[in-house]
Amino acid sequence: MQTKILSIEDGLDDAVGLIKNGEVVVFPTETVYGLGANALDVSAVRKIFIAKGRPMDNPLIVHVADFDTAESVSAGLGEGARKLMRAFMPGAITVIVEKSDLIPDEVSAGLPTVGIRFPAHEGARKFIKACGVPIAAPSANTSTKISPTSAEHVYEDMQGRVPLILDGGSCQVGIESTIVDMTADVPTVLRPGAITPQMLAEVLGEVKSFAGKIIVARAPGMKYRHYAPSCPMAVADSALSAAEYYAECEKNSLKPVIIAKSGYLSSLESQEKFQRIDLGDSDVEVMKNIYAAMHEAEKYYGVIICEDFGDSGVAASVMNRINKASGGRRV
Ligand code: TXA
Ligand code: MG
Repeated sequence: MQTKILSIEDGLDDAVGLIKNGEVVVFPTETVYGLGANALDVSAVRKIFIAKGRPMDNPLIVHVADFDTAESVSAGLGEGARKLMRAFMPGAITVIVEKSDLIPDEVSAGLPTVGIRFPAHEGARKFIKACGVPIAAPSANTSTKISPTSAEHVYEDMQGRVPLILDGGSCQVGIESTIVDMTADVPTVLRPGAITPQMLAEVLGEVKSFAGKIIVARAPGMKYRHYAPSCPMAVADSALSAAEYYAECEKNSLKPVIIAKSGYLSSLESQEKFQRIDLGDSDVEVMKNIYAAMHEAEKYYGVIICEDFGDSGVAASVMNRINKASGGRRV
């Protein structure tokens, strides 16, 4: 067999003709070159295994160029897989999901699952789109050889075994896609790649890395500056220290205000002299009123002195926000 190398533009028609005739074609992707065939055509898929010398029990990734085809090869993607696809596709990721009946056992090697990949490489997308079918493809190397990242690499390894290599230049990513198993209890990286467990965790909340470590997302909000009042704020260790600090602020003409629960406020001596915002009686009321109190306080006062609500139940959650707003300042 003669092996031709053609650019995407020059070779596209030939490539589509070959795929429609049940043959294999090598095509570029941003990760490594792939050895493609019509994923819905069993005899075409067998030619991949023959050209590569690959054992039939090793499943193939199915390449698509749109989300509808991704849906059609899966038996229902599920929310997690959809999130990954929205975040990282097209790109260097393969998502393992339950397969639909469209996908023959030869592609999945008898597994109930399928790996779906939507490459970012423009030439790859043109090729897959023009074929009009999902393309099963492993890396375009003979079994046990290094994955090819240029048309020349493919030619050196596979000449005489494939009819056509589409040349799309050298691969920008350079290693195979990250594979994420979305059928596992915790989404699991089966092969590490350019898309890291940290990046996956930001989208999924939690993933198991290839090394078996559970990676948890930083709470998305941690990346941003939190609401903090425009005036200084401090948490008082006790009602007494609140009163003392209040007096000190007043002496310096700082216009302090105390925000606290009703009981706390009434326990302060000679209550009348304190500017205060009453948050209510219970922790739940405090939670409901705390932001409104901070908004009001920053508008009308110069320093906020806040009760310490403790660390039980929702009070702990409220203190989380107060500690951020006050920058951990205590008096
Ligand atoms: O970047 C890539 O993923 C490249 C380009 C061409 O897309 N493809 C690639 O394919 O690296 P391949 O066949 O060389 O590696 C795919 C790996 C294999 O180790 C295979 O066992 C695994 O993915 N795999 C495929 N389908 C699977 C499935 N349903 N469940 C678990 N592993 C699967
Ligand atoms: Mg490979």
